[in-house]
Amino acid sequence: MKLKALVYRSCILLAAAMAAAGCTKEAQLDLKAPASASPWTRYAGWPDRRWDEFNTLAVDQSPPIGTSPKVESPIEGDPTKGMELSFDRSRGGGCMACHVMGPQTPEQPGNVGPDLSMVGTYRSDEFLFNYMYDPRTQNTRSIMPPWGTHGSFTVDEIKDIVAFMKTLTQPATFKDPLDDPAQRPVPKETRDNLDEFENPAMDAVERAKKLYKETGPDGKSCDSCHEDPAKAFATWAASMPKYEPRLKKALGVEEFVTRHALATTGSSWLMQSEENLAVSVYLRYLANGTPIQVNLEGAGAKEAVERGKALMQRKIGQLNFACVDCHQVGANRWIRGQWLGEYRGQTPHFPTWRTSRHEIWDLRKRMQWCNVAIRANELPPDAQQYADIELYLVSLSNGLPLDVPGIRH
Ligand code: HEC
Ligand code: HEC
Ligand code: HEC
Repeated sequence: MKLKALVYRSCILLAAAMAAAGCTKEAQLDLKAPASASPWTRYAGWPDRRWDEFNTLAVDQSPPIGTSPKVESPIEGDPTKGMELSFDRSRGGGCMACHVMGPQTPEQPGNVGPDLSMVGTYRSDEFLFNYMYDPRTQNTRSIMPPWGTHGSFTVDEIKDIVAFMKTLTQPATFKDPLDDPAQRPVPKETRDNLDEFENPAMDAVERAKKLYKETGPDGKSCDSCHEDPAKAFATWAASMPKYEPRLKKALGVEEFVTRHALATTGSSWLMQSEENLAVSVYLRYLANGTPIQVNLEGAGAKEAVERGKALMQRKIGQLNFACVDCHQVGANRWIRGQWLGEYRGQTPHFPTWRTSRHEIWDLRKRMQWCNVAIRANELPPDAQQYADIELYLVSLSNGLPLDVPGIRH
């Protein structure tokens, strides 16, 4: 064992010597097996519904832009029912996720869309019906879901909601000033994320230190080859993800850990396993404070970034959102009670503890949630699409210091 360890350490020295001589030694990667559970099944406790008829980041299948059916004018509908539907959070998020709707607006409405409190005074029944049914017929850049075309509401339900909107003729008033999205202060994270009493994710660092020394099926541990991780990996994670020609895609820390562990120690630490999360938190933790420096040079990386950018414009799910709709067009506004952050600064704290879920989420799980929350089937964590997005997204935080594990709502 000792002898073996010595041999591997010599390999590393050799690698260093080779690197110094201008020839570099690559980290071993398993290139064959999927890096996440396959076939992929959704996490326990997440909605188990599937949305197979709508676009995902991988498949084009949403119905085309719809023309609304002809309806009578003025529209006959039940405004009371319409109000219930508008305020029902289980139906597509409720209109107050994005709109203030008069004095009866429930607490914590969002303001991604315009205030509709007076819409009954200046919009025709027909306009309201058509805009709700499919706003893209009137505004190709709309970021509002096509409620009718995508079947979120029936024609009769849309009529009820129109009837409710026709009653909206009074400016909003708020019982609590903080319910007014224009007044609500922007949340600021002030907890000390590296304090183990504040951040339960700090446990992962301790867990990883043990895993690091555990011998895998091939008789080696990480420690066999990298004796002093704090020194060896003092900056490494800040350069991730990076384009990996052997896989023809960007490789993030989590997928690196899976593929490198399998190739060196024989351990199967699939993405999203407890071991993978712990070691990924640890490797980033070791590089904390290092400015993120994702490298976008080279044809492979450039192509990956272009794909990533395009994917972030892609409308997906029953609610028909692209990443840019919420994090660029709608950024720095409220969607319901949640402040929508912009891209820069979104990633340096990942993986992060989520106080609302009591678990550590890596970036891929966050992206999966941003899919499922808009009723789009998520992809497996090792999907090339997430890798492409991650490469671009993390590069937008270049220069910001790594700060892991984070702590967020
Ligand atoms: C995710 C945010 C979002 C949600 C949820 C949402 N809207 Fe909108 N809505 C918008 C935005 C943004 C606009 C303005 C421009 C656009 O279409 O992108 C808009 C515009 C409108 C307009 C046109 C206003 C005008 O005078 O031009 C109406 C009517 C409307 N929304 C009704 C609704 C109703 C009813 C619901 C609930 C069923 C709803 N919206 C839910 C974001 C949203
Ligand atoms: C058999 C020896 C061996 C084992 C075991 C091993 N590694 Fe490595 N590792 C290497 C070599 C060789 C490289 C490439 C040269 C370098 O960067 O040191 C490398 C590189 C790395 C890198 C930097 C990657 C890069 O692109 O520069 C990290 C991080 C890493 N290893 C982590 C781990 C972890 C975590 C484990 C345990 C799961 C582990 N290693 C197990 C040999 C090993
Ligand atoms: C319907 C709106 C919506 C869409 C579309 C959406 N997100 Fe989000 N996203 C949110 C909300 C709400 C949060 C939590 C509040 C925040 O941190 O911005 C969030 C958080 C995030 C975070 C964590 C930010 C942090 O600081 O912790 C990342 C990263 C992210 N989203 C990436 C994406 C990507 C990539 C896409 C496209 C695949 C996407 N989101 C699509 C609403 C959205």
